[in-house]
Amino acid sequence: MSAEGNPLSRVEPADAAKLELEYSIPFEAAASEYEPKIVTGASGCWVEFADGQKMLDLHGQYMCVGQGHGEPRLRTAIHEAVDGLDFVCEVLSHERKGYAAKLLCEDTIGEPTWAGAAKFVSSGSEAVEMAILIARLFKNRPVVFTTENAYHGWTTAAAAATTLPYLRNVFHDSRTGEVRTVPTPHPEFHAAPAPIDCPDEESVRKVIEQTERSIRAAGVENVAGIITELYYGAGGLLVPDGYPQMLREMCDRLGILWIDDEVIAGAGRTGKWWAYQHYGVNPDILCTAKGLSSSSVPAGAVVMSKEIAEYLRGGSWAAVSTFGGHPLATAAVSANIEIMLEDRVVEHAAEVGEYFKSKLLDLVDRHPSAGGLSGTGLAYAVELVKDPETGEKWIPTDRWLTPSVDGDPEFRPGVLIADECAKQGVLLFNFLPNTVTIAPPLRITREEIDTAMGALESAFSVLDSLLPGAANAS
Ligand SMILES: Cc1ncc(COP(=O)(O)O)c(C=O)c1O
Repeated sequence: MSAEGNPLSRVEPADAAKLELEYSIPFEAAASEYEPKIVTGASGCWVEFADGQKMLDLHGQYMCVGQGHGEPRLRTAIHEAVDGLDFVCEVLSHERKGYAAKLLCEDTIGEPTWAGAAKFVSSGSEAVEMAILIARLFKNRPVVFTTENAYHGWTTAAAAATTLPYLRNVFHDSRTGEVRTVPTPHPEFHAAPAPIDCPDEESVRKVIEQTERSIRAAGVENVAGIITELYYGAGGLLVPDGYPQMLREMCDRLGILWIDDEVIAGAGRTGKWWAYQHYGVNPDILCTAKGLSSSSVPAGAVVMSKEIAEYLRGGSWAAVSTFGGHPLATAAVSANIEIMLEDRVVEHAAEVGEYFKSKLLDLVDRHPSAGGLSGTGLAYAVELVKDPETGEKWIPTDRWLTPSVDGDPEFRPGVLIADECAKQGVLLFNFLPNTVTIAPPLRITREEIDTAMGALESAFSVLDSLLPGAANAS
């Protein structure tokens, strides 16, 4: 049916805001403070609001939109998929599932060819759930380590509430007859130290030594693996060189798995297809979502090593996700990967990323309120300091801020930077109180980077003027 003949209701932007306030729950802000900002369109690196204002999207919508908003060939592929098959569940299959998995395991990964299979899910949290489940089944051990300050998703209870034995994640190895049972539906978690504030190899080594001590204290025989982020999206931090290599060595030595959560860091964000590729080592299991389809449709996946894939293929495994491998999702994933490969989008991200980085380093040099830069490719975080001499932060609890315990700080320098940039038509979000996170769509141009720098430049001048001791500080 043509768009004009579509009998379904159309919602005007003015009504959209009213309906949202009345019928839905806002994200983060209290309802009394929340004002829906209705986006009516987006293209490339730009989003357009209901009032006609266009903003340069410096955050890629929580680092989701990958190669950018509304890539035309990706849209066409999605339209074709919609016109084709709507849905078959995972006991049947369709044309795109195996192909999307092949692209993921071979074409995005290249050498070394460690990946044996991909399993699709619909979100980042599900990818993490799946990865942890697979690690625990493969090792037949319950404990999974995480690191301080990590964000890996929000799911917690569904598997715990599932009591049907067949679906309680029992894995039967048909070759050996061995039945592996995950002891509880929830892995027991321990937090290892995060490689934050590690200025040199020695301090990274200390973090790894402490991690190993914690794992040994839990009993290595209980530990299936450790999950880490290489670019802490919500934490605004790239791990230092040396950390992934030492972690890999430790995991091999202890006989545990390394799960690399690249829900944010992956799919080109850091200037390589996968962040681990910067370090010359590879994980046992990789989680991806967000950029995997450039968020054109909800899609996630777990990529696992050949050894793990062979193990899982050898048994019968009752782990289902209704929409895992959905025809629409796998069509979007395969089209997204194909287009990014064809247009060398990841190489572009690396190249303009260097340009962006040099501008940001220059900004950090010139503005006393900018205390340092972390990141690579198109994932950056600028640290905001109150005292350039000592590096003192505006909000002392910094990354450990817990508003429910510490209270909400009256002044958040990161929000000030975002507000000032918004005045110049540049859109930033703000996760952490003393950190500005920058992660635009991967096709951003040098001209757009210059526009972004103009806004950041004046925003940092405003923050400089508020530093204690600045000429016009109050
Ligand atoms: C590293 C990481 N893992 C997992 C998730 C959860 O993904 P989702 O929100 O799609 O469930 C996120 C979300 O931001 C993330 O940053």
